[in-house]
Amino acid sequence: MRHVPVVVVGAGPAGLLLAQLLHAGGIDCVVLERRDRAYVEARIRAGVLERGTVELLRQAGVGERVAREGLVHTGFWLSVGGRRHHVDLAALTGGGAVTVYGQTEVVKDLIAARVALGQELVFEAADVAVEGFLEERAVVRWTDGGSPRAVSCDFVAGCDGFHGVCRASIPPERLVVRERVYPFAWLGILADAPPPSDELVYVRSDRGFALFSMRGPNVSRSYLQCRTDEDIAAWPDDRIWAELRRRLGDIDAALVHEGPVREKSITPMRSFVAEPLRHGRLLLAGDAAHIVPPTGAKGLNLAASDVHYLSRALLAHYHQGRDDLLETYSSTALARVWKAQRFSWWMTSMLHLGSDPFDDRLRVAELEYLLGSTAARTALAENYVGLPF
Ligand code: APR
Ligand code: PHB
Repeated sequence: MRHVPVVVVGAGPAGLLLAQLLHAGGIDCVVLERRDRAYVEARIRAGVLERGTVELLRQAGVGERVAREGLVHTGFWLSVGGRRHHVDLAALTGGGAVTVYGQTEVVKDLIAARVALGQELVFEAADVAVEGFLEERAVVRWTDGGSPRAVSCDFVAGCDGFHGVCRASIPPERLVVRERVYPFAWLGILADAPPPSDELVYVRSDRGFALFSMRGPNVSRSYLQCRTDEDIAAWPDDRIWAELRRRLGDIDAALVHEGPVREKSITPMRSFVAEPLRHGRLLLAGDAAHIVPPTGAKGLNLAASDVHYLSRALLAHYHQGRDDLLETYSSTALARVWKAQRFSWWMTSMLHLGSDPFDDRLRVAELEYLLGSTAARTALAENYVGLPF
């Protein structure tokens, strides 16, 4: 059986970025992806990159297009009860900023780079199975066009997302799972229309949360808080535009520009962490181990920080014969994951409408405090631009 140093399961941002960083460090891996290339490149996800994530893309050799086309945002707006308040990220964090660049584009850049390098990337790998990760050698099996395939490896990187096979291969008694499912969801649209502002607008209104984001100067990405069992067919485009205007309020409603809707979807909201991230030769990273609700856009950035710690640990193993970073991978990555969990939970609870009137009133007080306190806004800003890796 062929032996490779690392098998990466999943060609989302976590798996693809890990593969690039390992390649840059001289370590070969095989990447196995269940879906086809077109499907992976078309999936629409969040789009706010922390500075550390952009830097990691640069180190992985794919920093060029994001540097050219990414929109650098040094602030965002909070709209509360119809009035907009500016959060100046740069002033609050001593020059901090985020880059608005779709995850879809990150994935396209990473796939193009791997293909250009001629590195192994198997799409439509069916029935992936991960075995022996607590033994001398791990073995990964899959089916390729009906033919069975297998490789042995030193390490398996489980980067196969929330519904993947890697976390599911770990005996449940070895995992501690902590989870919160929220009683609301997001209805999202991607439209060919300029966004209402050149910065993001997060809205808390008495009709629920809304978010105005973008994928470029003429492409808006907007979200509305909706029920978890919402029927998307009950939301024709006109109803969505009207609701977006209402939540933004009378003063700003006219800023909402309508245009052809290219995509429409409902996203459930969940906080989830499965610990630890390491099980012998199997190392989990990204959504395979943790999920954040999308408020604050931390999902991709957490996948990036996991991969930063993991690539560093694997390269130290191969080049310096050191395993201390592999041994501390789980605790190091999780320390940052939990801080981002806290932030995402906090942003989510503060901005959404709940069902408990006391909690809802507290959240309004929390927002009023935030808007009146530089100390509180500084804490928001430093988390929003991203805690250091
Ligand atoms: N075998 C092979 N590949 C698999 C399997 C499997 N059994 N199961 C899932 N996959 C693939 C999926 O098709 C997907 O392409 O693993 C990939 C996982 O990618 P993501 O779900 O994008 O997860 P990750 O790379 O950790 O990125 C995290 O994605 O969901 C967003 O908000 C999240 O931005 C965050 C980012
Ligand atoms: C997005 O553009 O999809 C987006 C932006 C900011 C968020 C969440 C999603 O907080």
